[in-house]
Formats: sequence, structure tokens, C-alpha cells
Amino acid sequence: MDDDPSRKGAQGSKETTEDAAASKVADGSLPSAKLWAGRFAEPADALVERFTESVSFDRRLAQHDIKGSIAHATMLASTGVLSVADKEAIIGGLEAISKEIEAGRFEWKGTLEDVHMNIESALTERIGEAGKRLHTARSRNDQVATDIRLFLREAIDGIIAAIRRLQEVILDIAEREAQTILPGFTHLQPAQPITFGHHVMAWFEMLARDQERLVDCRRRVNRLPLGSAALAGTPHTIDREYSARLLGFEVVCENSLDAVSDRDFAIEFAAAGALIMVHLSRMSEELVMWISPAFDFVSLGDAWCTGSSIMPQKKNPDIPELVRGKSARLIGNLNTLLTLMKGQPLAYNRDNQEDKEPIFDSVDTLRDSLEIFAAMLGSLECRRSNMRKAALKGHTTATDLADYLVRKGMPFRDAHEVTGKAVRLAVESERDLADLSLDELRAFSSMIEGDVLDVLTLEGSVAARDHVGGTAPGQVRSAIARARRRLR
Ligand code: ARG
Repeated sequence: MDDDPSRKGAQGSKETTEDAAASKVADGSLPSAKLWAGRFAEPADALVERFTESVSFDRRLAQHDIKGSIAHATMLASTGVLSVADKEAIIGGLEAISKEIEAGRFEWKGTLEDVHMNIESALTERIGEAGKRLHTARSRNDQVATDIRLFLREAIDGIIAAIRRLQEVILDIAEREAQTILPGFTHLQPAQPITFGHHVMAWFEMLARDQERLVDCRRRVNRLPLGSAALAGTPHTIDREYSARLLGFEVVCENSLDAVSDRDFAIEFAAAGALIMVHLSRMSEELVMWISPAFDFVSLGDAWCTGSSIMPQKKNPDIPELVRGKSARLIGNLNTLLTLMKGQPLAYNRDNQEDKEPIFDSVDTLRDSLEIFAAMLGSLECRRSNMRKAALKGHTTATDLADYLVRKGMPFRDAHEVTGKAVRLAVESERDLADLSLDELRAFSSMIEGDVLDVLTLEGSVAARDHVGGTAPGQVRSAIARARRRLR
């Protein structure tokens, strides 16, 4: 392999005594065994090692790091920078290391700082000389940016799948409860009757937009930083398009300074993730209310609730409460990443090492929350008669009376006033608007006739909102059908 004509200059081929010494230094078991130790006369202080290490958390990127390295070596061999034999040794070594990591047998060394140097030094330990050639035309700066993008791309796909599973559960509930009536609220005051199917289809739409945001963000995640090297590019012959193809990236990042430094793609992900959790948090809040005996609209299976250590009667909705609570993490992580970025001059700064934990936490929290939410909603049961009773309270068909008068020719403002007076009578006589007699209603306007009674029923009210986006059961069923097609 030493006579490979493509490998000249920077990659000197003879193993000198200096090289041998460098191999020794690279031995991770020595406290100062840094891959960058050449320039330093003294080893790093133990405090510095502890403060700067990231392998305790970025080892999670290991498999992506290895994939990136295999692609890089493959590309370097295609342009002749690496010999085929070196490439094969590198790939064989990396694949073995990958298996070791998967089996939990890999020995991570904090002294080797991060996931990249742990793997590279293990590779060199395993295959010798060729391992030391892998980092040609590359820096940890473009390497780590590539790893995070690979990680995030996979995470986004998993989260999109989890959103869709939750949407399926919601569609099943909507179908079952397409004509179940409950009060719709504004200001948490009973406003107008709606169908429960319509209510949960609102959740479906929130999640549909969440998914769109992730799909959109994925396009900007899916670009290749490799080839940017430390910041300015590399003098070696590289083929970035080939690397991109090997790793499934859509395009290469256009500017090397930008590619190694900006984490805006992760910020976008964090923002999209925060919105998902804000949506789940709002749904959670509704569940918590509906489960409370004060509402008693729905119940969740025992497996999805927890008890109290002191009050034997309690069945608490801890899952929605925790999902609501965990939304704080995502909002916090978004703030962390924004703040992390804002003061950084071009190009790479070590600040960026702090991006990983918030990214990982956002991914984990989203995955867990979406998964448990779908499973929990699978156990949801409606207490239809309680929902109906609640809708009968609070004069929820008052708007229908006003709309009825408008249809008879009365201007809406006057109709609003007339209806308001009727509601006042109902309130004062401790009845609901729908319980007033025809004669009592007619005292407010002679336009009111016998057909008003249908209008004031809950069923009449929801059935009347019969247009795309309205709450009529037929519309809910069409919305579900359209939603199922969208999911396909
Ligand atoms: N652990 C570092 C990070 O997460 C890797 C890049 C280090 N680059 C450097 N020039 N020190 O960002």
C-alpha cells in the first residue's frame, strides 16, 4: 500500500520513530494521551479534562460517527487520497468497533475527550498506521456537525412516526364519538355544544402541523458539512457530493465556515419539538380537567393512572400532568440552544459542545411523551351522559336562538339582545334556556314560533353547523375520512 501513487506529501508513508512515539502518546490509557498532544509540553490538568470532556454524553453519537467515518474513508479512497487497502482496514476496524459498542464492550475513556477521539484512537490501536490516516481532510468540527445531523435526521423520522401513531388513536376516538355532545368552551365557560369527535379532531390538526414543521426542518438538517474540515475546507482532493450520497444527505452545505458553526437546524428542531410539547401539554390540561370528578367527562384505564399514598380514593392523571410538566424541558432546551448560539463569532467555537444534551433531551422527551400519550389515549372512555348533562347547562344554544331570529329577518344585534333577555329569565328562574316554554320565549319576540324548539336542542345546534370545519357529526365523519387519506 505504500507504493500507492495517490498518497503523497502530507500523508508520508514510512513509519518513523516519531510515528511510533505518536502511537504511544495516542494510547488512551495515559492521562495526557491526547490526539492533539503534539503541541503541548505539559498534560492537561485533571480539572480541565473533567470540564472539557463530552464523551460521557456524546458517545450516544457513536454509530453515526462511525457511519460518517466509513463514508469519509470511502470517499477518500475514491479520490485516491487513501489507498484501497487502508480504506478496507479502516472500514473493517470501524465495523468491529461498532459491534463492540453495540455489545457494551467498548471501553470509553474520559481522557480521550469525546466520542470522535475515542473511536479514532481505538481504531488506530486495532489497525495501526491506517487508522491514523482516517482524519485526513477532516476535522472534528465538520465531523461533529455531521454526526448531529445524522442523529437528528433519524430522530425526526422516529418522532414523525410517533406523531402518526398518536393521530391514528385520535382518529379512532373521533370515529367512535362523532356524535357525542359536550359543551365547547371559550374562557372555560360553556359556549356552544360541540361533538367530542370534533374536539379531538382539533388535536389531530395540531399534530398534523407539528409533523409538517418536522418535515420542513428535516430538509435543512439533511445537508452535509463534511469537507468543511476545521473551517476553511481542505487542500486534499475530496468529493463532497459522493460523501453526501453515501450518507443519504440531500445536498452539501455551501459554505465551510457556516457548516461547522451554525446549529440553526437543531434550533429549528428544538422549536418544532417545543411546539409539539405545547400541544401535548394543552391536550393534557384538558384531560386533567375532564378526568376530575368536577367534570367527569372521561376516564382513563387504571394502568394509565396512579394512586395517592395517603388518600385511598384517589386515581390521579399523572401521565398527562407529567407530559404537561415535561413541556417545560423542551421550551427550556430551545432557549438553551438559542442562547448558546447568539454570541458566537464564525466559525466553530467550543460552546457548541453544549448543544448535545439539550438536543438529546428534547428527542427523548418527545419520543416518550408521544408514545405514552398514544397508549394512554387508547384507554380513554367517554362518560357520554355527563358530557350531555354539562352541555344542557349553561344555555349553550343561546347563539342558536339568535341565529334563528336572524333567519326570520331580525338584524343580528337585535337578535343578540332578545336572546340575552331570554337567558336572563332562564337564569333568574334557575332553568336552562332550552327549558323555557314557547309562550315564555314568544314574550321576547313574536318572530319566535313552534319550530324554535328544534333549534334549541343540542342535536339541532350541532347538526346546524354543517360545513367543512364545522361540528356536525356528518362533517366530523368526512373530516376523519380526509384525515385518514392524509395519513396514508
Ligand atoms: N466535542 C466537540 C463538540 O461537541 C467536538 C468538536 C471539537 N472541536 C474542537 N476543535 N475542539 O463540539
